[in-house]
Amino acid sequence: MPVPPLIFAHRGSSGTYAEHTRAAYLQALADGADGVECDVHLSRDGQLVCIHDTTLDRTTNGSGDVADLTLAELRQLDVSSWKGIGLPSEYGDVSDQFLSFADLLLLLRRAGRPIRLAVELKHPSPFGLRLEEALIAFLMDEGWNPESSMLGSIEVSFMSFNPDSMRQLAESVPHHLLCQLVSDVQPKEVRDALHFGAILEGALITLMRRALKEGEQLVNHQEVGMAGPGVKYIRKHPHRVRRWIQEGVRVRAWTVNKVEDALFLAELGVQELTTDYPARIRAAFESN
Ligand code: G3P
Ligand code: CA
Repeated sequence: MPVPPLIFAHRGSSGTYAEHTRAAYLQALADGADGVECDVHLSRDGQLVCIHDTTLDRTTNGSGDVADLTLAELRQLDVSSWKGIGLPSEYGDVSDQFLSFADLLLLLRRAGRPIRLAVELKHPSPFGLRLEEALIAFLMDEGWNPESSMLGSIEVSFMSFNPDSMRQLAESVPHHLLCQLVSDVQPKEVRDALHFGAILEGALITLMRRALKEGEQLVNHQEVGMAGPGVKYIRKHPHRVRRWIQEGVRVRAWTVNKVEDALFLAELGVQELTTDYPARIRAAFESN
């Protein structure tokens, strides 16, 4: 068995508890994850908040756009009932309050061990690249070191599907912690983008294909130190991904929930992966 990839809990241990909740992140620490992954958006009052979708409908009891509510309003929402799994009593009052990025940092600072934090900047954002500006400004205020990207014992890395996000972040962030996400066109992203008034679906798909191509170029020319292909992409293009690794690009694969996929990626030389089930994937690596 080659060196097993580092394991990042995707939106926390989101297979177990509702994604982006305290419970999910505490479970990730208990599962022995090497790191956690978090999607960030901006609220109406410019606060960084942890949520995947641009809208509230899927993962809260609210509706409409995240960007239309202030953090105080978001905090009124129920973010865990949709999952149908009760919150764990062993973590005390973890509550199902909407998590701000500041809340997540506090939780990780209290982890009692070094931890990695992979932040995904979600686009299209109605705030455009002000999302990147807000994140860097917030981290600087918190005492983040832009040379090492350490915030106390938290190592922060940055991911996005949007190549412009990578280019913007490259001005402030160490190259080896920038991860260009790579995906074939996903209908969900098309839907999200349409939500912001983008015109024709065909035109949008063209734009997304261009973003994919541009993202691959950033990786091929090693303008970023990390590539983040999805597991489907890797199954489709294993030789391409192996070449990236051989050329010195670090690969962080998403979202790897099947043991057979995790073992396949480890054999390929993939160094990092995100999963909804860190304990399952860790156990598979330990027994192989
Ligand atoms: O880790 C990257 C992965 O999270 C990207 O996809 O849709 O789960 O944010 P998504
Ligand atoms: Ca993500």
